[in-house]
Parts: sequence; C-alpha cells; structure tokens
Amino acid sequence: MDKLFLPVILGTNRAHRNSEHPARWLVGEMQMRPEIETKLFDARDFAFPQDDYGQGLKNNFPEWRDAIIRADGLAIVSPEYNHGYPGILKAILDLMLKEYIHKPVALVGVSAGPWGGTRVIEAMVPMVRELGLAVTFTDLNFPYVQKTFDANGKLLDAAFEERAKGFLDELVWMSRTLKWGRENVPSKHHPVIG
Ligand SMILES: Cc1cc2nc3c(=O)[nH]c(=O)nc-3n(C[C@H](O)[C@H](O)[C@H](O)COP(=O)(O)O)c2cc1C
Repeated sequence: MDKLFLPVILGTNRAHRNSEHPARWLVGEMQMRPEIETKLFDARDFAFPQDDYGQGLKNNFPEWRDAIIRADGLAIVSPEYNHGYPGILKAILDLMLKEYIHKPVALVGVSAGPWGGTRVIEAMVPMVRELGLAVTFTDLNFPYVQKTFDANGKLLDAAFEERAKGFLDELVWMSRTLKWGRENVPSKHHPVIG
C-alpha cells in the first residue's frame, strides 16, 4: 500500500513551551511506522503580518501550502490556553481551506493540569470541521506534560507508547479510507482520479 503523508503541526510559538516535547516524540513514533511519511511544522516558523489572515497569505508559506495539498491527513498538537487553542495555530490553519476537505485530522491536547488538553480538543472540533477536515475519535492527551518528559524531551511514562499506537492506527485507517473515497467516490469537492 502507498505510504501516507501525515504532517504534524506544533501549534504554539511560546518561548518556554512544553508542547514541543510531545510533538517531537509523536513525530518520532510516526517515523518508526513504515506506512507513514511525516514532517513537523512549527508555529515558530510562521511569521504573520500584523493585519491579515487567511488564504490570501498561503503563498507566503509555500512549504505548509504544499504539504497540506499533498497531505493524506494531519495531526495537530495544541496546548490548552484557557481552554482554547493559541491564536497562531488558528492563523496557520486559516491559510488553507479547500485543500483540507475530506482529509482526517487527529488531535493532541497538552496541558500542565490533569485533563490533558481535553477542553482544547473539544474547542478545536467545531473549528476543524468548518475547514472540511474529518476528526478522528482517538485523541492523545498529555496531562502534567511538565512531568511526562524530562528536560531533554525524553518520555518518562511508557504508557504513552500504547496510546500513541491507538491514536496513529485510527489516523492511518481514516487516512486510507478517505483517500480511497476522494479518489473513487464522486464529490463536488474533488475530481475522481483515473
Ligand atoms: C495563556 C495560558 C493559558 C493556559 N491555560 C491553561 C488551561 O486552561 N488549562 C491547563 O491545564 N493549562 C493551561 N495553561 C498551561 C499550559 O497548558 C502549559 O503551559 C502546558 O505546558 C502546555 O502549554 P505550552 O506548550 O505553552 O507549555 C495555560 C498556559 C498559558 C500560557
């Protein structure tokens, strides 16, 4: 079977962010799976103008643009900021629109508290739905993230390996299924290839 291209976006540019550890660890888990090709995108690499948003800016970010066009699915790693997601993550996602349609998105929540970003994940669901993305239902939650990784980003709790497996299995299944659908089932949103 074809390899799936599943980029990951790390959704905060905060100076002392902890979310970088789970994002990098997840990318490492993905790189160990032969059916996945991935690439980590970092909110720090997106320099936005102060006065604009949306698709009109996508050519300012050609790597992200081309990755989303080619992507079979997407994973978002977001910290929880007052039960919401960082503004920069929204600005990044807003760069594209029709390119997301009928592709799956898997959501990773990261928090300092005990709930592992469950509330930011709930907040992201209606937003990604409006982009045309289909949300998987196996999330990955990192509560107490500051205690879950050491300062070098080493995972301290092996239980996350099994959780990541379930998270990725679901993303892979959804990606394969929706890829087949995009290529074989007519829709006004994308041409049927072949
Ligand atoms: C503006 C702001 C708001 C936050 N709100 C929450 C929150 O609602 N719930 C929570 O568990 N942690 C909250 N935190 C803590 C973050 O979840 C924590 O910093 C965690 O490490 C993930 O964010 P980070 O990647 O920026 O470090 C907040 C942090 C910031 C900077």
